[in-house]
Amino acid sequence: MRAVVATAPGGPEVLTVTDVPAPTIGPDEVLVRTTAAGVNFIDTYRRSGTYPMPFPHVVGSEGAGTVEAVGSDVAGLAVGDRVAWAEAPGSYAELVAVRAADALVVPSGVPDDTAAAVPLQGMTAHYLVTSSFHVRPGSTVLVHAAAGGVGLLLTQLARRHGARVIATVGTAEKEQLARAAGAAEVIRYRDLDDLPTELPAVVRDLTAGRGVDAVYDSVGKDTFDASLASLARRGTLVLFGASSGPVPPVDPQRLSSAGSVLLTRPKLADHVADPDELTWRAREVFDAVLDGTLDVRVGATYPLTAAVDAHRALESRSTTGKVLLLP
Ligand SMILES: NC(=O)c1ccc[n+]([C@@H]2O[C@H](COP(=O)([O-])OP(=O)(O)OC[C@H]3O[C@@H](n4cnc5c(N)ncnc54)[C@H](OP(=O)(O)O)[C@@H]3O)[C@@H](O)[C@H]2O)c1
Repeated sequence: MRAVVATAPGGPEVLTVTDVPAPTIGPDEVLVRTTAAGVNFIDTYRRSGTYPMPFPHVVGSEGAGTVEAVGSDVAGLAVGDRVAWAEAPGSYAELVAVRAADALVVPSGVPDDTAAAVPLQGMTAHYLVTSSFHVRPGSTVLVHAAAGGVGLLLTQLARRHGARVIATVGTAEKEQLARAAGAAEVIRYRDLDDLPTELPAVVRDLTAGRGVDAVYDSVGKDTFDASLASLARRGTLVLFGASSGPVPPVDPQRLSSAGSVLLTRPKLADHVADPDELTWRAREVFDAVLDGTLDVRVGATYPLTAAVDAHRALESRSTTGKVLLLP
């Protein structure tokens, strides 16, 4: 089968499309023919060696497709079922072995490309607004990179839970997308000369000096200081990514100075480890897609052979919404 292999830690150029043996499935796995593989920032961290991985490895973890074979211990899934998944190593490939426990049955009415955007970014947006900080009517939240894959879904779900969303984005096109997703205010943070001081000042102007109840920060190094300074007293900083690079070590005393604020650094795996919790999150996100309250924007699709271009686009801030590879 054709697959995208990272040959060694490095930039997008280490990705090569090659023939590899099809995976053999274990008793608790299903073999899936991939129709759409999700491209996520975590794939770039694994490719670059930022997150430790064995090399060479087939890249990717997310996708959607049709079950072709079922392991001997698997119950409740059959050949021909359409499934999606967030964490199956080697998903940039024509065939993927997926643990049955991680395979989400895709409701009819949700196309595969939409389904491929739900498991990782959709369930992340879901746990961010329900668990990392519980968004309620009247909450005001700041969402960075609001036109990105997670960002557009997060903005919509935060609105749906009753928040006023202040968004940051890089470009005019992204500003339009963030507004369409429900952001009440949009800040073009690349236009600010001194982000750590100017962004909090703008946020305080927009909140009558109070600051926001929560900041959802996936950008990391470049925005962390501004995020901390934008919080209301006893607000919550949800640091969930590092698109601009990792945040250096933080002195806990800074959380006190910022107003007895909370800092959390969550990850999806800890929010879907329990099977009931996984089912609940997936169902709520798919239901929102089906009832039209959650719009999944697929911003770009690439053939498997163009995985290098997909990674370059994601890392150069030029993508919006979901990026997919179509094997
Ligand atoms: N913890 C979790 O559970 C979890 C789960 C999913 C994703 N994440 C994290 O969430 C973040 C977003 O993931 P995504 O796949 O949805 O990507 P994305 O937001 O679609 O793409 C990244 C965006 O970040 C912004 N950005 C700011 N500085 C950047 C820089 N120096 N380099 C690249 N991008 C920069 C850009 O938007 P602007 O042009 O608007 O600045 C860019 O489009 C990633 O950091 C990812 O690791 C975490």
